[in-house]
Amino acid sequence: SGFPSILKNGLSKLGVPNEILEFLLKWVDDGEDYPKIPEAKGAVSAIRSEAFFIPLYELYLAYGGIFRLTFGPKSVLIVSDPSIAKHILKDNSKAYSKGILAEILEFVMGKGLIPADGEVWRVRRRAIVPALHQKYVAAMIGLFAQATDRLCKKLDAAASDGEDVEMESLFSRLTLDIIGKAVFNYEFDSLTVDAGIVEAVYTVLREAEDRSVAPIPVWEIPVWKDISPRQRKVSAALKLINDTLNELIAICKRMVDEEELQFHEEYVNEQDPSILHFLLASGDDVSSKQLRDDLMTMLIAGHETSAAVLTWTFYLLSKEPSVMSKLQNEVDSVLGDRFPTIEDMKKLKYTTRVINESLRLYPQPPILIRRSLENDMLGKYPIKRDEDIFISVWNLHRSPHLWDDAEKFNPERWPLDGPNPNETNQNFCYLPFGGGPRKCVGDMFASFETVVAVAMLVRRFNFQMAFGAPPVKMTTGATIHTTEGLKMTVTRRMKPPIMPMLDMPAVTVEAPVNVSSEEPKLGQK
Ligand code: HEM
Repeated sequence: SGFPSILKNGLSKLGVPNEILEFLLKWVDDGEDYPKIPEAKGAVSAIRSEAFFIPLYELYLAYGGIFRLTFGPKSVLIVSDPSIAKHILKDNSKAYSKGILAEILEFVMGKGLIPADGEVWRVRRRAIVPALHQKYVAAMIGLFAQATDRLCKKLDAAASDGEDVEMESLFSRLTLDIIGKAVFNYEFDSLTVDAGIVEAVYTVLREAEDRSVAPIPVWEIPVWKDISPRQRKVSAALKLINDTLNELIAICKRMVDEEELQFHEEYVNEQDPSILHFLLASGDDVSSKQLRDDLMTMLIAGHETSAAVLTWTFYLLSKEPSVMSKLQNEVDSVLGDRFPTIEDMKKLKYTTRVINESLRLYPQPPILIRRSLENDMLGKYPIKRDEDIFISVWNLHRSPHLWDDAEKFNPERWPLDGPNPNETNQNFCYLPFGGGPRKCVGDMFASFETVVAVAMLVRRFNFQMAFGAPPVKMTTGATIHTTEGLKMTVTRRMKPPIMPMLDMPAVTVEAPVNVSSEEPKLGQK
């Protein structure tokens, strides 16, 4: 508009620096035609509490679907509105980068697919997505089952000894074993071994989580990096992981060279079905550093997330015995004691709904991070470039305005014969795997992995919170963890019958109510 630019030119000629001009003009602009984004004041200390997404929920109820949280010179926009989330993630996604997230994760993921932006991201996404084709995911089902079977043996021993088990760390190990094989054909065997590379992975993960909630980036202070014992331990762990990954890349390159390769869209090497093998066989023209960054990114992305989903699913199941028995009935009739196959994934409908609902109540991660690359409009509010934005998936998934009985664990909210809920058919009220071009590449992989693990575990065992177990409280890193573990008592189910496969009767559910005329919104208000 006229006045601000005249003012700007005038002040600029007087030698006022550009940053100050921008700052001043922000106020001039804001004052004119546009409403100002509500500002949550005096809420600074709130975000210092353990699980910072919890106070954001209270603030959402008070301030609405978009508000500004200010602390010192910095501020961040908190978005909990489905249409604004859709705008940022999908409709105008090119105007947003990963911002702080990329800064925090740089030390471990480099320019891997999750933090990468712009051209690097575009090229790598195009190379990696084809690797997770349908036949690959189908081949992975066997791997999920074998790994879960190893966990069952461990639980069986604990059941015999009458020992309680801490499920969160066991799930973390289960999903580490799976993702190692799936991404670069490496056997962590972390359910039995606890040293060397496994310890290094956990050191690095813990560091990434701490950095994501640390108020001051001490690791950036040059001298600190060299003298802090903790930072030295992190560096050593990173070196071990990098050396191992580089060696795996080298081994895989040799395999591919010796192979009589006939590469095609659904290529899978029988001995080594890993994503790494696919990438090298596809002639992916990429530096070893970039390849390492991508493998590391997938290792982390596919490990902690799935583990957290399993942890919270079993926590929720322990509180709803009726859901558990319905789940067990389905597994008894579909699987019995067989290992699951890809065909079973369609039949394990209620199991899938249990996972869908667990991801609604405990989204992993609970917050998606972005930064604006240009000025934009969010709803009716103008924003400047370089705004840090947190999209609270937690708030969307638990909003009393969007869901009936939002806090209730109710897999029945989605009819069994309806489509699997996703961001599109739920109009961005439900974002278990994000949405738009940056959507998770492992969504099908992860859904099948968690369905297989849950099905096989509840077929063999009953799970209860252990007597005297610490209360289950939440804390955040990248995903939602418990503060003191998930201590459970595991008992063998007494020879559960193998039920004849009946046509699953449709479960009675309330008819879905359409809010907008555009798309059906199943299970929502
Ligand atoms: C991205 C969730 C498992 C690889 C994402 C995003 C979410 C998500 C919400 C979007 C992040 C954003 O927009 O900022 C989950 C959940 C999982 C899971 C809940 C398990 C239940 C996996 C697995 C893999 C994987 C198994 C790999 C095999 C990735 C990658 C991205 C991503 C590479 C970045 C995609 C891009 O930026 O282009 N995931 N994920 N995820 N996920 Fe997953």
